[in-house]
Amino acid sequence: MASASPQALFLYTIAAAALLIPGPTVLAQLTPDFYTSICPQALPTIRRVVNQAINDEPRMGASLLRMHFHDCFVNGCDGSILLDDTSNFTGERTAGPNFNSVRGYDVVDKIKTELDRICRRSVVSCADILAVAARDSVSILGGPSFTYSVLLGRRDATTASLNAANSNLPAPFFSFPQLLSSFQAHGLDLTDLVALSGGHTIGLARCTTFRTRIYNDTNIQTNLAASLQRACPPTGGDNNLQPMDRTPAGFDTQYFDALLRNRGLLHSDQELFGGGSAASDALVRLYSTSPQRFAADFAAAMVKMGNMQPLTGTNGEIRSDCRKIN
Ligand code: HEM
Repeated sequence: MASASPQALFLYTIAAAALLIPGPTVLAQLTPDFYTSICPQALPTIRRVVNQAINDEPRMGASLLRMHFHDCFVNGCDGSILLDDTSNFTGERTAGPNFNSVRGYDVVDKIKTELDRICRRSVVSCADILAVAARDSVSILGGPSFTYSVLLGRRDATTASLNAANSNLPAPFFSFPQLLSSFQAHGLDLTDLVALSGGHTIGLARCTTFRTRIYNDTNIQTNLAASLQRACPPTGGDNNLQPMDRTPAGFDTQYFDALLRNRGLLHSDQELFGGGSAASDALVRLYSTSPQRFAADFAAAMVKMGNMQPLTGTNGEIRSDCRKIN
């Protein structure tokens, strides 16, 4: 048998190599209708379970919104916050900003179980569950004007990072410049910072997160400081809860009204008004008088945050148990 010519061998080698070397990665885009044909009942199912959870405990809406934020700010919106520790990595659940603080893991499990039953297989990612549950929470507690379309198609991480969770999330003692640089490091701008901080229009915070403010800050309304000091003593009572605005179960503009009167609960909240940025002050004023502008900017910022480093295409996986890799 005649052996192949050197030219043919060369061409063969090039062709074989071309098959092995991956071309430029084509990143799949998130889309609003990702589950329309895969599992048409996916979104109504998530909404039903979220609605039930909020009926059982109104605070759960706030907790689910925060969980999505804490997922996205730590290596992207990839469901990594949900993973238990393994022998290969220590997960994010015990990180300072999450431990004894982030809630809603059981509701996510319940949503996942329901989805797998309704869709008859595991097709909805845990990362997408978090994005949709956050949107549904806002829309249930804020009404139709706070509803927005969520982009979908995220896949789940196969790892998590305790260190990243400890270093990538903004802290309640941050100054305005620190808050802004934290958001900018995640590709978000000043408008996103102020609009997304409006998430604090729902939910509660523990004494330990605002104690320094109520005993030391001077930009806090006297009456508020006095009443918070009764609820949050100088020592002890670390887990005593206080609402972040007057209507902790209503997604509205009360949070911004509070900032205008030096009634922000966290030091970081009050930094958005009077913290040295005229642009931030102007946005707080605008949102306090315009629910429409707040709703529009909040929705846009949520979509932007939800787009941070998603795993798509063949990256990551669809976890069958949100707490464990497959
Ligand atoms: C701007 C920087 C932010 C800081 C420093 C911050 C800090 C905090 C802190 C310290 C708490 C109380 C935690 C506890 O008591 O254990 C909290 C609660 C909360 N945060 Fe933020 N946060 C920020 C941004 C956001 C964003 C962007 C969202 C969502 C869009 C959000 C949503 C929430 C919600 C809804 C709660 C109440 C949770 C509940 O009641 O379970 N936060 N935040």
